[in-house]
Amino acid sequence: MSNNRLFLFFFLFLVLSCNSYQKPAESHLPENLDEASKMKYTQYLIQGKILYNTNCTHCHQNSGEGFRKLYPALIGSATLMDDMGPAACLIKYGTKASREASNQNIAMPAQTELSNLEIAEILTYIGNSWGNQNGFISVSKVATSLVDCATH
Ligand code: HEC
Repeated sequence: MSNNRLFLFFFLFLVLSCNSYQKPAESHLPENLDEASKMKYTQYLIQGKILYNTNCTHCHQNSGEGFRKLYPALIGSATLMDDMGPAACLIKYGTKASREASNQNIAMPAQTELSNLEIAEILTYIGNSWGNQNGFISVSKVATSLVDCATH
C-alpha cells in the first residue's frame, strides 16, 4: 500500500472518529452507503443545515414546521417529495419562477445569490430531515433543474 493511500485511510479514520463530523440529529442518512458516499452525504447535511439556518429558518422554522398559514411546512412537503427539481427553482428564483403562489397573500422570495452547490446542500438537508427521506441531491441535478426555470 502506498503512503498516499495509508494517509488517506488515516485521514478518513480521523474524520470519521471525530465527533464534530456527525450528521444533524434530525437528519436521515441511509445505512448502505460506502464510506466515501457517507462522508459526502454527511457533509451536505451539515452544510445544508448551516445554510438553511441562515436563509430559511426565519420563515420555515428550525423544525421545518413552517409558520401557521403564512409559511408552509417542509415536513412531508409535496414539492420536496417530488424529484426536487421544482424545489431548486423555488429556492433560486422564488415562487414566480416555478408556479403561481398557492398562498395568495405571500410568495417566497428569490435567493439568486445561492450557488448550485449551496442549493444541493440545502435540498439534501431539508429533503432528509424531520422524517423526510428523499435521498441525496447532486449539484448536477440542481444545475439541470435550474436550466428549465432560468428563463421564466
Ligand atoms: C420570507 C419567507 C421565506 C423564506 C426566507 C423562505 N421561504 Fe420557502 N416559502 C415561503 C412561502 C410563503 C412559501 C409558499 C409559496 C407559495 O404559496 O407558493 C414557501 C414555499 C417553500 C417550499 C414549498 C413547500 C410546499 O410544499 O409547498 C419549499 C420547499 C421552500 N419554501 C423551501 C425554502 C428554503 C429551502 C428556503 C431557504 C433557502 C426558503 N424556503 C426560504 C416563504 C419563505
